[in-house]
Amino acid sequence: MQLKPVNVGILGLGTVGGGTINVLARNAKEIARRAGREIKIVAAAAREVKGCSTDGFTVTEDPFEVVNNPDVEIIVELIGGYNPAKELVLTAIRNGKHVVTANKALIAMHGNELFAEAQKHGVTIAFEAAVAGGIPIIKALREGLAGNSISWVAGIINGTGNFILTEMRDKGRDFADVLAEAQALGYAEADPTFDVEGIDAAHKLTILASIAFGIPLQFDKTFTEGICNITRDDMQYAEELGYRIKHLGIARRTDAGIELRVHPTMIPERRLIANVDGVMNAVLVMGDAVGPTLYYGAGAGAEATASAVVADLVDVVRALTTDPENRVPHLAFQADSLSDMPILSADEFETAYYLRMNAVDEPGVLADVTRLLGEQGISIKSILQKSAANDDKLVPVVLLTQRVKEAKMNAALDAITQLASVSGPIARIRVESLN
Ligand code: HSE
Repeated sequence: MQLKPVNVGILGLGTVGGGTINVLARNAKEIARRAGREIKIVAAAAREVKGCSTDGFTVTEDPFEVVNNPDVEIIVELIGGYNPAKELVLTAIRNGKHVVTANKALIAMHGNELFAEAQKHGVTIAFEAAVAGGIPIIKALREGLAGNSISWVAGIINGTGNFILTEMRDKGRDFADVLAEAQALGYAEADPTFDVEGIDAAHKLTILASIAFGIPLQFDKTFTEGICNITRDDMQYAEELGYRIKHLGIARRTDAGIELRVHPTMIPERRLIANVDGVMNAVLVMGDAVGPTLYYGAGAGAEATASAVVADLVDVVRALTTDPENRVPHLAFQADSLSDMPILSADEFETAYYLRMNAVDEPGVLADVTRLLGEQGISIKSILQKSAANDDKLVPVVLLTQRVKEAKMNAALDAITQLASVSGPIARIRVESLN
Protein backbone atom coordinates (compact mmCIF):
# COMPACT_ATOMS: atom_id res chain seq x y z
CA MET A 1 0.00 0.00 0.00
CA GLN A 2 1.34 3.44 -0.93
CA LEU A 3 1.24 5.78 2.11
CA LYS A 4 0.16 9.35 1.50
CA PRO A 5 2.88 12.05 1.50
CA VAL A 6 3.89 13.67 4.79
CA ASN A 7 3.00 17.38 4.80
CA VAL A 8 5.71 19.73 6.00
CA GLY A 9 5.59 23.45 6.79
CA ILE A 10 8.82 25.41 6.68
CA LEU A 11 9.61 28.62 8.56
CA GLY A 12 12.32 30.66 6.86
CA LEU A 13 13.50 30.45 3.26
CA GLY A 14 16.92 32.05 3.74
CA THR A 15 20.26 30.32 3.24
CA VAL A 16 19.36 27.03 4.98
CA GLY A 17 15.66 27.12 4.06
CA GLY A 18 16.49 27.60 0.38
CA GLY A 19 19.05 24.79 0.58
CA THR A 20 16.49 22.49 2.19
CA ILE A 21 13.89 23.11 -0.54
CA ASN A 22 16.50 22.40 -3.22
CA VAL A 23 17.83 19.19 -1.62
CA LEU A 24 14.30 17.89 -1.00
CA ALA A 25 13.37 18.57 -4.65
CA ARG A 26 16.58 17.22 -6.20
CA ASN A 27 16.71 14.01 -4.17
CA ALA A 28 12.94 13.55 -3.72
CA LYS A 29 12.84 9.97 -5.01
CA GLU A 30 15.76 8.68 -2.93
CA ILE A 31 14.49 10.49 0.15
CA ALA A 32 11.04 8.90 -0.28
CA ARG A 33 12.66 5.46 -0.68
CA ARG A 34 14.48 6.03 2.62
CA ALA A 35 11.59 7.55 4.57
CA GLY A 36 8.96 5.18 3.19
CA ARG A 37 6.79 8.16 2.19
CA GLU A 38 7.08 11.24 0.05
CA ILE A 39 8.04 14.38 2.00
CA LYS A 40 6.06 17.32 0.67
CA ILE A 41 6.42 20.99 1.54
CA VAL A 42 2.87 22.36 1.63
CA ALA A 43 3.36 25.73 3.35
CA ALA A 44 6.14 28.18 4.09
CA ALA A 45 6.56 31.44 5.96
CA ALA A 46 9.27 33.83 4.81
CA ARG A 47 10.02 37.50 4.44
CA GLU A 48 12.58 36.82 1.71
CA VAL A 49 13.23 33.80 -0.47
CA LYS A 50 16.86 32.87 -1.17
CA GLY A 51 17.86 30.73 -4.12
CA CYS A 52 14.93 28.31 -4.34
CA SER A 53 11.64 27.88 -6.16
CA THR A 54 8.38 28.22 -4.25
CA ASP A 55 6.36 26.22 -6.79
CA GLY A 56 3.92 23.81 -5.22
CA PHE A 57 3.40 25.51 -1.84
CA THR A 58 1.95 28.66 -0.38
CA VAL A 59 4.24 31.31 1.14
CA THR A 60 2.94 33.62 3.85
CA GLU A 61 4.67 36.31 5.90
CA ASP A 62 3.02 35.05 9.09
CA PRO A 63 4.79 31.98 10.54
CA PHE A 64 1.93 31.40 13.01
CA GLU A 65 -0.32 30.64 10.00
CA VAL A 66 1.99 27.70 9.21
CA VAL A 67 2.30 26.32 12.77
CA ASN A 68 -1.49 26.53 13.12
CA ASN A 69 -2.17 24.96 9.71
CA PRO A 70 -4.03 21.67 10.38
CA ASP A 71 -2.67 20.09 7.17
CA VAL A 72 0.94 20.37 8.38
CA GLU A 73 2.36 17.41 10.32
CA ILE A 74 6.00 18.52 10.68
CA ILE A 75 7.37 22.04 11.15
CA VAL A 76 10.89 22.88 9.97
CA GLU A 77 12.06 25.95 11.92
CA LEU A 78 14.87 27.78 10.10
CA ILE A 79 14.36 31.38 11.15
CA GLY A 80 16.88 31.22 14.00
CA GLY A 81 17.17 33.35 17.15
CA TYR A 82 15.26 33.08 20.41
CA ASN A 83 12.10 34.95 19.51
CA PRO A 84 9.64 34.35 17.95
CA ALA A 85 11.21 30.92 17.32
CA LYS A 86 10.44 29.71 20.85
CA GLU A 87 6.77 30.70 20.67
CA LEU A 88 6.45 29.16 17.21
CA VAL A 89 7.99 25.85 18.28
CA LEU A 90 5.85 25.71 21.45
CA THR A 91 2.73 26.41 19.39
CA ALA A 92 3.68 23.69 16.89
CA ILE A 93 4.25 21.19 19.72
CA ARG A 94 0.96 22.06 21.40
CA ASN A 95 -0.74 21.56 18.02
CA GLY A 96 0.72 18.03 17.99
CA LYS A 97 3.31 18.71 15.29
CA HIS A 98 6.86 17.36 15.25
CA VAL A 99 9.62 19.92 14.85
CA VAL A 100 12.91 19.91 12.96
CA THR A 101 15.16 22.86 13.75
CA ALA A 102 18.64 24.17 12.96
CA ASN A 103 18.33 26.68 15.80
CA LYS A 104 21.24 26.10 18.22
CA ALA A 105 20.51 29.25 20.21
CA LEU A 106 16.95 28.08 20.83
CA ILE A 107 17.94 24.54 21.82
CA ALA A 108 20.89 25.61 24.01
CA MET A 109 18.85 28.24 25.83
CA HIS A 110 15.35 26.76 25.98
CA GLY A 111 15.85 23.10 25.05
CA ASN A 112 15.07 21.71 28.53
CA GLU A 113 11.64 23.36 28.50
CA LEU A 114 10.93 22.54 24.84
CA PHE A 115 11.87 18.87 25.19
CA ALA A 116 9.66 18.50 28.28
CA GLU A 117 6.76 20.06 26.40
CA ALA A 118 7.40 17.84 23.35
CA GLN A 119 7.43 14.75 25.56
CA LYS A 120 4.15 15.82 27.14
CA HIS A 121 2.53 16.07 23.71
CA GLY A 122 4.12 12.89 22.29
CA VAL A 123 6.10 14.71 19.60
CA THR A 124 9.76 14.94 18.76
CA ILE A 125 12.16 17.85 18.25
CA ALA A 126 15.03 16.96 15.91
CA PHE A 127 18.05 19.29 15.85
CA GLU A 128 20.95 17.65 13.98
CA ALA A 129 21.48 20.80 11.90
CA ALA A 130 21.99 22.87 15.05
CA VAL A 131 25.53 21.58 15.59
CA ALA A 132 28.37 21.46 13.06
CA GLY A 133 26.20 21.99 9.95
CA GLY A 134 26.22 18.88 7.81
CA ILE A 135 28.22 16.62 10.14
CA PRO A 136 25.88 14.03 11.71
CA ILE A 137 27.49 14.53 15.12
CA ILE A 138 24.26 14.43 17.14
CA LYS A 139 23.39 11.05 15.67
CA ALA A 140 26.92 9.75 16.18
CA LEU A 141 27.08 10.82 19.83
CA ARG A 142 23.52 9.93 20.71
CA GLU A 143 23.27 6.59 18.94
CA GLY A 144 26.57 5.43 17.44
CA LEU A 145 28.55 5.90 20.67
CA ALA A 146 25.78 4.83 23.07
CA GLY A 147 27.93 2.06 24.51
CA ASN A 148 30.70 4.40 25.65
CA SER A 149 31.44 6.46 28.68
CA ILE A 150 32.58 9.72 27.07
CA SER A 151 35.38 11.60 28.80
CA TRP A 152 35.69 14.62 26.54
CA VAL A 153 34.53 16.26 23.34
CA ALA A 154 36.58 18.94 21.56
CA GLY A 155 35.41 20.62 18.40
CA ILE A 156 35.88 23.33 15.84
CA ILE A 157 32.18 24.12 15.75
CA ASN A 158 32.00 27.59 14.25
CA GLY A 159 32.80 27.71 10.55
CA THR A 160 33.03 31.50 10.39
CA GLY A 161 35.62 31.68 13.18
CA ASN A 162 37.68 28.89 11.64
CA PHE A 163 37.50 30.59 8.23
CA ILE A 164 38.76 33.86 9.76
CA LEU A 165 41.67 32.21 11.63
CA THR A 166 42.67 30.20 8.56
CA GLU A 167 42.66 33.19 6.20
CA MET A 168 44.58 35.35 8.70
CA ARG A 169 47.23 32.67 9.09
CA ASP A 170 47.56 31.56 5.46
CA LYS A 171 47.06 34.82 3.62
CA GLY A 172 47.70 37.51 6.21
CA ARG A 173 44.22 38.91 5.54
CA ASP A 174 42.50 41.35 7.88
CA PHE A 175 39.95 40.10 10.37
CA ALA A 176 37.19 42.46 9.16
CA ASP A 177 37.73 41.64 5.51
CA VAL A 178 37.45 37.86 6.06
CA LEU A 179 34.40 38.31 8.27
CA ALA A 180 32.68 40.30 5.49
CA GLU A 181 33.37 37.44 3.07
CA ALA A 182 31.95 34.87 5.53
CA GLN A 183 28.79 37.02 5.79
CA ALA A 184 28.47 37.23 2.00
CA LEU A 185 28.82 33.43 1.74
CA GLY A 186 25.97 32.95 4.24
CA TYR A 187 28.18 31.36 6.93
CA ALA A 188 27.95 34.04 9.62
CA GLU A 189 25.16 34.53 12.14
CA ALA A 190 22.69 37.41 11.75
CA ASP A 191 24.76 39.03 14.51
CA PRO A 192 28.35 38.05 13.59
CA THR A 193 29.62 38.82 17.10
CA PHE A 194 28.00 35.46 17.96
CA ASP A 195 30.62 33.85 15.69
CA VAL A 196 33.72 35.80 16.68
CA GLU A 197 32.99 35.97 20.40
CA GLY A 198 32.29 32.26 20.63
CA ILE A 199 28.61 32.50 21.57
CA ASP A 200 27.53 30.39 18.60
CA ALA A 201 30.16 27.77 19.48
CA ALA A 202 29.00 27.89 23.12
CA HIS A 203 25.43 27.16 22.03
CA LYS A 204 26.66 24.14 20.11
CA LEU A 205 29.00 22.95 22.86
CA THR A 206 26.15 23.15 25.38
CA ILE A 207 24.17 20.75 23.19
CA LEU A 208 27.11 18.37 22.60
CA ALA A 209 27.93 18.22 26.32
CA SER A 210 24.36 17.37 27.27
CA ILE A 211 24.27 14.51 24.80
CA ALA A 212 27.75 13.27 25.68
CA PHE A 213 27.30 13.27 29.46
CA GLY A 214 23.54 13.10 29.97
CA ILE A 215 23.21 16.47 31.71
CA PRO A 216 20.58 19.20 31.24
CA LEU A 217 21.39 22.02 28.82
CA GLN A 218 23.29 24.73 30.73
CA PHE A 219 24.30 27.44 28.29
CA ASP A 220 24.57 30.07 31.03
CA LYS A 221 27.42 28.12 32.65
CA THR A 222 29.52 27.79 29.50
CA PHE A 223 32.77 29.80 29.59
CA THR A 224 33.26 31.78 26.38
CA GLU A 225 36.26 33.66 24.98
CA GLY A 226 36.40 34.87 21.37
CA ILE A 227 39.10 35.15 18.72
CA CYS A 228 39.43 38.93 18.52
CA ASN A 229 42.68 39.07 20.55
CA ILE A 230 44.59 36.49 18.49
CA THR A 231 47.50 38.21 16.74
CA ARG A 232 49.54 37.12 13.73
CA ASP A 233 52.58 37.04 16.05
CA ASP A 234 50.87 34.46 18.26
CA MET A 235 50.00 32.41 15.19
CA GLN A 236 53.61 32.51 14.06
CA TYR A 237 55.08 31.65 17.49
CA ALA A 238 52.57 28.81 17.79
CA GLU A 239 53.84 27.40 14.48
CA GLU A 240 57.47 27.71 15.64
CA LEU A 241 56.55 25.66 18.70
CA GLY A 242 54.78 23.01 16.58
CA TYR A 243 51.21 24.11 17.33
CA ARG A 244 48.17 25.62 15.58
CA ILE A 245 45.66 28.00 17.13
CA LYS A 246 42.05 26.90 16.76
CA HIS A 247 38.86 28.20 18.33
CA LEU A 248 37.72 25.10 20.20
CA GLY A 249 34.69 24.13 22.20
CA ILE A 250 35.77 21.68 24.90
CA ALA A 251 33.53 19.66 27.22
CA ARG A 252 35.49 17.52 29.68
CA ARG A 253 34.33 15.33 32.52
CA THR A 254 36.52 15.47 35.64
CA ASP A 255 36.05 14.01 39.13
CA ALA A 256 34.95 17.43 40.38
CA GLY A 257 32.47 18.20 37.59
CA ILE A 258 32.30 19.21 33.96
CA GLU A 259 34.40 21.81 32.16
CA LEU A 260 32.41 23.61 29.47
CA ARG A 261 34.63 26.08 27.67
CA VAL A 262 35.00 27.82 24.33
CA HIS A 263 38.28 29.66 23.72
CA PRO A 264 41.23 29.93 21.33
CA THR A 265 43.34 26.83 21.91
CA MET A 266 46.82 25.82 20.84
CA ILE A 267 46.91 22.21 19.70
CA PRO A 268 49.80 20.14 18.35
CA GLU A 269 49.98 20.60 14.58
CA ARG A 270 50.23 16.85 14.01
CA ARG A 271 46.67 16.29 15.28
CA LEU A 272 44.20 15.84 12.43
CA ILE A 273 41.89 18.44 13.98
CA ALA A 274 44.70 21.03 13.88
CA ASN A 275 44.55 20.79 10.10
CA VAL A 276 40.84 21.46 9.74
CA ASP A 277 40.77 24.74 7.85
CA GLY A 278 38.38 27.24 6.30
CA VAL A 279 34.68 26.85 7.01
CA MET A 280 35.10 23.16 7.81
CA ASN A 281 34.16 21.87 11.28
CA ALA A 282 35.43 18.84 13.15
CA VAL A 283 34.49 17.21 16.42
CA LEU A 284 36.81 14.88 18.29
CA VAL A 285 35.14 12.57 20.82
CA MET A 286 36.94 10.42 23.37
CA GLY A 287 34.99 7.30 24.37
CA ASP A 288 36.32 4.68 26.78
CA ALA A 289 35.50 1.76 24.51
CA VAL A 290 36.11 3.16 21.04
CA GLY A 291 38.95 5.59 21.90
CA PRO A 292 39.14 8.83 19.91
CA THR A 293 36.83 9.31 16.92
CA LEU A 294 36.84 12.35 14.65
CA TYR A 295 33.95 13.74 12.63
CA TYR A 296 34.72 16.20 9.85
CA GLY A 297 32.70 18.17 7.32
CA ALA A 298 31.18 21.48 6.27
CA GLY A 299 30.00 23.35 9.35
CA ALA A 300 27.91 25.97 7.60
CA GLY A 301 26.38 26.76 4.23
CA ALA A 302 23.07 26.20 2.48
CA GLU A 303 23.10 22.59 1.29
CA ALA A 304 25.55 21.27 3.90
CA THR A 305 23.17 22.33 6.65
CA ALA A 306 20.17 21.22 4.57
CA SER A 307 21.73 17.75 4.51
CA ALA A 308 21.22 17.55 8.29
CA VAL A 309 17.73 19.10 8.15
CA VAL A 310 16.57 16.57 5.58
CA ALA A 311 18.12 13.66 7.51
CA ASP A 312 16.11 14.78 10.54
CA LEU A 313 12.95 14.96 8.42
CA VAL A 314 13.53 11.36 7.32
CA ASP A 315 14.07 10.30 10.95
CA VAL A 316 10.90 12.04 12.09
CA VAL A 317 8.84 10.53 9.26
CA ARG A 318 10.10 7.06 10.18
CA ALA A 319 9.16 7.71 13.82
CA LEU A 320 5.62 8.98 13.09
CA THR A 321 4.10 5.61 13.75
CA THR A 322 6.31 4.65 16.72
CA ASP A 323 5.34 4.72 20.37
CA PRO A 324 6.47 8.13 21.78
CA GLU A 325 7.82 6.42 24.93
CA ASN A 326 10.23 4.35 22.87
CA ARG A 327 11.87 6.95 20.68
CA VAL A 328 15.53 7.95 20.95
CA PRO A 329 15.59 10.47 23.86
CA HIS A 330 16.25 14.09 22.87
CA LEU A 331 19.44 14.28 24.97
CA ALA A 332 20.54 10.67 24.41
CA PHE A 333 19.81 9.67 28.03
CA GLN A 334 16.27 9.07 29.29
CA ALA A 335 14.79 12.39 30.46
CA ASP A 336 14.33 11.10 34.02
CA SER A 337 17.95 9.86 34.15
CA LEU A 338 19.82 13.10 33.53
CA SER A 339 22.72 13.73 35.91
CA ASP A 340 23.21 16.73 38.18
CA MET A 341 27.02 16.77 37.85
CA PRO A 342 28.13 20.36 38.49
CA ILE A 343 29.58 22.60 35.76
CA LEU A 344 32.96 23.91 36.91
CA SER A 345 33.85 27.58 37.13
CA ALA A 346 36.81 28.83 35.04
CA ASP A 347 39.05 28.92 38.15
CA GLU A 348 38.78 25.15 38.31
CA PHE A 349 39.70 24.44 34.67
CA GLU A 350 42.93 22.59 34.26
CA THR A 351 44.99 23.19 31.13
CA ALA A 352 48.49 24.02 29.92
CA TYR A 353 49.29 27.57 28.77
CA TYR A 354 51.10 29.59 26.14
CA LEU A 355 52.17 32.98 27.55
CA ARG A 356 53.61 35.92 25.64
CA MET A 357 54.92 39.03 27.34
CA ASN A 358 57.17 41.97 26.54
CA ALA A 359 60.12 42.03 28.93
CA VAL A 360 63.14 44.28 29.39
CA ASP A 361 66.21 42.62 27.89
CA GLU A 362 68.44 42.48 31.00
CA PRO A 363 69.80 39.81 33.38
CA GLY A 364 67.42 38.33 35.96
CA VAL A 365 64.13 39.10 34.20
CA LEU A 366 63.43 35.55 33.11
CA ALA A 367 64.47 34.33 36.56
CA ASP A 368 61.82 36.62 38.12
CA VAL A 369 59.13 35.36 35.76
CA THR A 370 59.95 31.68 36.32
CA ARG A 371 60.15 32.22 40.12
CA LEU A 372 56.62 33.72 40.18
CA LEU A 373 55.30 30.82 38.10
CA GLY A 374 57.15 28.37 40.38
CA GLU A 375 55.53 29.94 43.47
CA GLN A 376 52.17 28.80 42.09
CA GLY A 377 53.53 25.31 41.37
CA ILE A 378 53.60 25.95 37.61
CA SER A 379 56.25 24.04 35.65
CA ILE A 380 57.63 25.48 32.46
CA LYS A 381 57.84 23.27 29.39
CA SER A 382 59.74 25.62 27.08
CA ILE A 383 60.81 29.24 26.70
CA LEU A 384 61.48 31.23 23.54
CA GLN A 385 63.07 34.67 23.65
CA LYS A 386 62.63 36.56 20.42
CA SER A 387 64.86 39.40 19.24
CA ALA A 388 63.75 42.96 19.84
CA ALA A 389 62.18 44.93 17.01
CA ASN A 390 64.68 47.65 15.93
CA ASP A 391 66.30 49.27 18.98
CA ASP A 392 63.47 48.36 21.28
CA LYS A 393 64.58 47.58 24.83
CA LEU A 394 61.63 45.20 25.17
CA VAL A 395 61.81 41.66 23.81
CA PRO A 396 58.92 39.25 23.34
CA VAL A 397 59.24 36.26 25.68
CA VAL A 398 57.12 33.21 24.93
CA LEU A 399 56.59 30.38 27.45
CA LEU A 400 54.76 27.06 27.37
CA THR A 401 53.72 25.66 30.75
CA GLN A 402 52.57 22.29 32.01
CA ARG A 403 48.94 21.78 33.02
CA VAL A 404 47.75 23.82 36.00
CA LYS A 405 44.49 25.00 37.58
CA GLU A 406 43.38 28.29 36.05
CA ALA A 407 43.17 29.99 39.48
CA LYS A 408 46.90 29.38 39.97
CA MET A 409 47.72 30.76 36.56
CA ASN A 410 45.63 33.87 37.29
CA ALA A 411 47.56 34.42 40.54
CA ALA A 412 50.91 33.99 38.77
CA LEU A 413 49.93 36.39 35.97
CA ASP A 414 48.76 39.00 38.49
CA ALA A 415 52.20 38.85 40.13
CA ILE A 416 54.15 38.88 36.83
CA THR A 417 52.19 41.90 35.61
CA GLN A 418 53.47 43.82 38.67
CA LEU A 419 57.13 43.31 37.65
CA ALA A 420 58.72 46.57 36.50
CA SER A 421 60.63 44.58 33.88
CA VAL A 422 57.45 43.30 32.19
CA SER A 423 55.52 45.80 30.11
CA GLY A 424 51.88 45.79 28.97
CA PRO A 425 49.32 43.00 28.98
CA ILE A 426 50.39 39.34 28.92
CA ALA A 427 48.82 37.26 26.15
CA ARG A 428 47.73 33.79 27.20
CA ILE A 429 46.31 30.97 25.14
CA ARG A 430 45.22 27.67 26.65
CA VAL A 431 47.06 24.63 25.28
CA GLU A 432 45.53 21.15 24.88
CA SER A 433 47.32 18.06 23.66
CA LEU A 434 44.06 16.23 22.81
CA ASN A 435 45.61 12.80 23.20
N1 HSE B 1 27.49 30.88 11.94
C1 HSE B 1 27.61 29.47 12.03
C2 HSE B 1 29.04 29.09 11.69
C3 HSE B 1 26.64 28.81 11.08
O1 HSE B 1 29.76 29.90 11.14
O2 HSE B 1 29.44 27.98 12.00
C4 HSE B 1 26.50 27.33 11.30
O3 HSE B 1 25.95 27.04 12.55
